[in-house]
Amino acid sequence: MNPSPTRTTPSLFLRAAWGEDTPRAPLWLMRQAGRYLPEYRAIKARASFWEMVRTPELAAEVTLQPLRRFPLDAAILFSDIMTPLPAMGVAVEFSPGPVVAEPLRSPAQIEALRLPEVAELAPFVAEAIRLVRRELQGREAALIGFGGAPLTLATYLVQGAGSKDYEVFRAFLRQEPALAHRLLEKLAEVTLRYLRMQVEAGAQAIQLFDSWAGLHDPQTYRTFGLPYNRWVLEGLGGLGVPRIYLAVGASHLYPLIAELPCEVVSVDWRMSLAQVRSFFPNRALQGNLDPAVLLAPPEVIAREAREVLRAGRGGPHIFNLGHGVIRTTPPEHVAHLAEVVHQFDRHGEESL
Ligand code: CP3
Repeated sequence: MNPSPTRTTPSLFLRAAWGEDTPRAPLWLMRQAGRYLPEYRAIKARASFWEMVRTPELAAEVTLQPLRRFPLDAAILFSDIMTPLPAMGVAVEFSPGPVVAEPLRSPAQIEALRLPEVAELAPFVAEAIRLVRRELQGREAALIGFGGAPLTLATYLVQGAGSKDYEVFRAFLRQEPALAHRLLEKLAEVTLRYLRMQVEAGAQAIQLFDSWAGLHDPQTYRTFGLPYNRWVLEGLGGLGVPRIYLAVGASHLYPLIAELPCEVVSVDWRMSLAQVRSFFPNRALQGNLDPAVLLAPPEVIAREAREVLRAGRGGPHIFNLGHGVIRTTPPEHVAHLAEVVHQFDRHGEESL
């Protein structure tokens, strides 16, 4: 038989994301491309982080690096949550996390933020997506596009850089609520345009990273997080791609997160998947091995990964870490994890 080149192989990742209780858990890892891989460091030695993100050939190459090494079911576009912000008029550097030299705190600064048209909004990202899709043709792995949730982007824009507690931002929300809403509205509008552009270019799923949502109490999240996430996620509905929402350290917000329109909820390691499932009975769950486990010896990785796989039974499950791969992770530990996940039969007899 001569398979039609336009017909894509059904992807295990997409099947699970759309709610199928698949016999094997599809696997990908947040930060699967990054500094723990020598081939990433080789490119990073020649190019700055922004150059890598803004050069479609480099971004595509780095996106594909982990898929050449490991049998992963999805690629995630190599980029950053901060990528669309320079087009809004904000200068962002990386050291190694994002640094905003002039944090946004005044009405004038927030009014001055631009709402760029799609064509100006990171065209290099659309091109990188097209290059990756071309490379993945005929393979089962799907390509995930992503963006930062408005509340998480605002955290960096107001605080100015990574921080333990982001107290400047938390005070700002209470001191200047109207200004905060204006900023979040603008970020939501740009984020939706940016994510739609990624889908048009060929992204097959979208993940919204709300990495700092967990900083807030439920009322603050209900006021400043939820409405903007709902607006972005609703705007992505009907495009034919599953929507993944991730928050970290946010178990106390699950009853609110359950109100969001998304197909997949990505969770950290602080609560077992069996327990998490009771909050999200009709969604696929993604997670949730503690990334630190990948620093431990192979037998510990196997034991802990199987624990996660067992807890993920009883509904659709996409295996992932609870947060990104840690920089000191030995690549062969990721290979071992992939073997364990591939061997685990989610519908089979329990093996001890
Ligand atoms: O493989 C992937 O997951 C795709 C690439 C990706 C990066 N950033 C590359 C990156 C993704 C999905 C992101 C999203 C991102 N960026 C988030 C959400 C995910 C999360 O971790 O919660 C956040 C909060 C950021 C902001 C950011 N960018 C931080 C905190 C850092 C420092 C990270 C670190 O490892 O120290 C960055 C820089 C960054 N983004 C790097 C990479 C590979 C490291 C850059 C380097 O090589 O020095």
